[in-house]
Amino acid sequence: MPSTLNIAMPDDWHLHLRSGEMLAKVLPFTSQHFSRAIVMPNLPSPVVTTAGAIAYRQEILSYLPKAHQFTPLMVLYLTEKTDPDDVRAGFLSGDISAVKLYPAGATTNSDAGVNDLEKIYPVLEIMEEIGLPFLVHGEVVDAEIDIFDREAVFIDTKLSPIRARFPKLRIVFEHLTTKEGVDYVLSCAENTAATITPHHLVINRNAMLVGGIKPHYYCLPVAKREHHRLALKAAATSGDSRFFMGTDSAPHLSHAKESSCGCAGIFNVANAIAVVTQVFDNENALDQLEKFLSLNGANFYQLAVNEQKMTLTRSNKAIAIPEDIKTSAGKVTAFDPMMDVYWDVTG
Ligand code: DOR
Ligand code: ZN
Repeated sequence: MPSTLNIAMPDDWHLHLRSGEMLAKVLPFTSQHFSRAIVMPNLPSPVVTTAGAIAYRQEILSYLPKAHQFTPLMVLYLTEKTDPDDVRAGFLSGDISAVKLYPAGATTNSDAGVNDLEKIYPVLEIMEEIGLPFLVHGEVVDAEIDIFDREAVFIDTKLSPIRARFPKLRIVFEHLTTKEGVDYVLSCAENTAATITPHHLVINRNAMLVGGIKPHYYCLPVAKREHHRLALKAAATSGDSRFFMGTDSAPHLSHAKESSCGCAGIFNVANAIAVVTQVFDNENALDQLEKFLSLNGANFYQLAVNEQKMTLTRSNKAIAIPEDIKTSAGKVTAFDPMMDVYWDVTG
């Protein structure tokens, strides 16, 4: 069994960086371990135009530590009013790497998202033509659908019709949480892929609900039953080119999560690579790790694999849970995977 691994530098294909002081505090955790990240556009005032994405990218770069090399890949937040010409122009200028669908009301800052999918068909038509990835928060929001079923129902009622109508559209089913989601992606052609988070690889819904309510394990889509986690783990460790890591690291102030109406999101980026490496080691699948962290996503996004390398080392002593981040408005709690992690990034 190897105790050192050398892989191409990873990328994060789904990340929330926020803005202002929170951005300044969380960004170095990403930029020290990832070359690129697909940056989610769900700011309180969402990133809905190419001009907005350029301004947000400038803000991100203004906080980047000088010693770090990191490229934020910008994403447009889809609304029913998104201008297809702006999408095309943003793609052609290289400023936009993807467009994200938030069903209205599905999650944090999604109120400006989409109610009527047919209204976005003109944008999807352009995206299919130019090959711009369509990133999907795959949950229905209907009040009568149980929250644990929202992903599976989304596949049948929303995603399948979109794929049928736009067969060449390049789709990323974000933060998969179900076996149905894994099976769906496996049933599709290569132009449908999925991100999987570190936390959905290691927790099921018990983490959130057993022994008291644990708000730091609450995220959306919520973690599901154990058999779903096992399906996600099998998909990630299989090496299949359609699955790659998106941390979905989503920092919130701890007091906003420890509340009578707590926010969804897990801040996991400080130990994401270590945790995922341990998961692969436990599955005897370290030979597939580089595909999940560094190769499959770059290939899907039609970008070169990073030339820079990363070294991972296994020690005999489990690593500590990362420290909380302190901001002037309060702290952010880091992800505790509730398992021993012996791997860490060492170079
Ligand atoms: O848990 C989540 N947090 N899921 C999302 O879809 C959004 C994210 C956030 O922005 O906080
Ligand atoms: Zn997200």
